[in-house]
Amino acid sequence: MKLASTKSIKPGTILAQSIYNENSVVLLAKGMSLTAKMITRLLDQGITYIYVEDEFTNDIYPESVIPDRLRREATESLKSTFKQIKQEGPLRNSYILNKNEKNLGNIVEQILAEIQNNEKSLTLLSDIFISDDYIFQHSLNVAIYSLAIGVKLNYSRKSLVEIGVGAMLHDVGKIFIDPEILNKPEQLTDNEFEIIKSHTQIGYDYLRKQSDLSAVVAHCAYQHHERLDGSGYPRGISEKDMLPYAKLIGIADVFDAVTSNRIYRDAMLPHEGLEILYAGAMNLFDKEMVEAFKKSIAVYPEGLSLELSDGRQGIVIRQNKELCDRPVLRIVKENGKKLTDTYECNLGKVVNLTVTSVLTD
Ligand SMILES: [Fe+2]
Repeated sequence: MKLASTKSIKPGTILAQSIYNENSVVLLAKGMSLTAKMITRLLDQGITYIYVEDEFTNDIYPESVIPDRLRREATESLKSTFKQIKQEGPLRNSYILNKNEKNLGNIVEQILAEIQNNEKSLTLLSDIFISDDYIFQHSLNVAIYSLAIGVKLNYSRKSLVEIGVGAMLHDVGKIFIDPEILNKPEQLTDNEFEIIKSHTQIGYDYLRKQSDLSAVVAHCAYQHHERLDGSGYPRGISEKDMLPYAKLIGIADVFDAVTSNRIYRDAMLPHEGLEILYAGAMNLFDKEMVEAFKKSIAVYPEGLSLELSDGRQGIVIRQNKELCDRPVLRIVKENGKKLTDTYECNLGKVVNLTVTSVLTD
């Protein structure tokens, strides 16, 4: 399979990954021939890239780091937790997370085990969901990325579980924000932006009253939009006053936001999302954490077509674990001609070649 931009796909192309709804029910099954109508629907849903079958790489499959079952359970756990919180209201001093936090805590431990046992670099491109409830997929993805950074930085198990729960609940304040403002595709007014910003304070106020949650979890919700140079919100605090967990979740949050499929803008690919983080490394984001993040994800995931500095074109077939931006390619085009005999090129071993462009047609 190879990764292709949905816009460039022609009818008759064979889908190489299933596309799910938010309850993990298959909407379009892999192996199916895409019709013009299906392609239009995918574009309408904001799906920017999909895996399609390809003559050169039919032996390569996208593989999720998190098994479908765990993703489904995590989404269900988030949904029921958020629903209960919404029913209770933001200012009630209740202990409703007692039961659910345990669920979320269990889920976080399972995700952590998957990340720790997985030798592969992280990619979530293989999980495509069409969902109106962006918040659940987002919260889960942010937890997965945050845990990956924490693991790379050798955080203790206790810290990792707190980070995971904090990441799962970082945007919980949003359930009290008018969805019309939250999902507004057009530019927000100043007043609307203030309302959106308040999700940090609302989340904090709610979470800090939960006696079963560590205080740092509440601070993850409070501080995840703060930035090192003090340019964030809600308080504009700077580096020295920020909790490390919140710095880490802020990085995962921005990366997932720009690389996720949304109806109103195209999703970026991982290497483009990383560029955003690097642009902010020092002023906005902790450089060491951005580096740790880069080391845990597949910068060029399997299936991506790349052009090299010598003009050859290839498709990523494997990752080099310690050299996350130097994958192994299968060369499919040389001197402008498609090859019948493809061969491997390991960028981890060839130092004089660089990736000059990412081809998505
Ligand atoms: Fe947020």
